[in-house]
Amino acid sequence: MSQPRHYLQFSDLSAAEYQYLFQRARVLKRRQLSGQLYQPLVGKVMSMIFEKNSTRTRVSFEAGMAQLGGHAMFLDGKSSQIGRGEPVEDTARVLSRMSDVIMIRTFEQSLVERLAANSRVPVINGLTNEYHPCQILADILTYIEHRGDIRGKTVAWIGDGNNMARTWLQAAKLLGFKLKVATPVGYELTTLDGEHYGNDCYEAFHNPLSAVQGADLVATDVFTSMGYEAEAEARRQAFDGYMVTGELMRAANPDALFMHCLPAHRGEEVAAEVIDGPQSVVWDEAENRMHGQKALIEYLLLGQLED
Ligand code: CP
Ligand code: NVA
Repeated sequence: MSQPRHYLQFSDLSAAEYQYLFQRARVLKRRQLSGQLYQPLVGKVMSMIFEKNSTRTRVSFEAGMAQLGGHAMFLDGKSSQIGRGEPVEDTARVLSRMSDVIMIRTFEQSLVERLAANSRVPVINGLTNEYHPCQILADILTYIEHRGDIRGKTVAWIGDGNNMARTWLQAAKLLGFKLKVATPVGYELTTLDGEHYGNDCYEAFHNPLSAVQGADLVATDVFTSMGYEAEAEARRQAFDGYMVTGELMRAANPDALFMHCLPAHRGEEVAAEVIDGPQSVVWDEAENRMHGQKALIEYLLLGQLED
């Protein structure tokens, strides 16, 4: 049996494959918005494992599979045997005999890798402590829709050096843009496996104003990611001064976009005037989770299509 193709981190696909996926997502989006039925995945099933909360990821995968003619099943730790200690290797063997693709949102990246290593079908990372590749797929698709190619552009990341920031950094190396990251001391972005990250596409700061100089896109995220709730109070203090404000946006390029993967906390990591203002594309980002992932699922299951 040939090995399935997985999507566990952003660097699992090549730049050429991303070029295909971005244009394919736009085809599928146009088709969906014009009301055209397109159902290449009739009879196909996705198992979705959620060990953390979700609104967008769950709905975008479930709606996307339904639109493609397939079906998605929701499993969580509370009501499945996953939460009662069944080894992830056994879960992978069982799920991959009954489904055509598996999506997982969990804590450690290593668990996703163990799942994939024992799966007969493609595994998609729907967020781990370390990465959130499906979100960056949607974010870059959104950038392209609004401003064209992201190659040569500058993205400023303000706040936590978290799963989103680390995935942006993989994308910067692969797709040829610059990432400037401003974090508080102690919350800097750490990379995990050197080969997936480039040095010349990355600059680290502690001052948000320095990071947004020359930025074409300013992005942020919650100060406390899922799984880090015990640190919330310490983080609130450490991240004082890291809110994306109107003043900060004015220090970026005049046509800079604002992105946030959501859920957002107005008055914490982003001012209401920014997220609800004219530079914000957060609702397009959320919608594009579905269109980008439809292209991804179709590609992992059927390969490149011309129609
Ligand atoms: N952005 C994102 O992944 O949202 P959810 O946590 O709602 O899935
Ligand atoms: N960094 C956030 C993203 C949520 C979509 C988290 O991991 O909780």
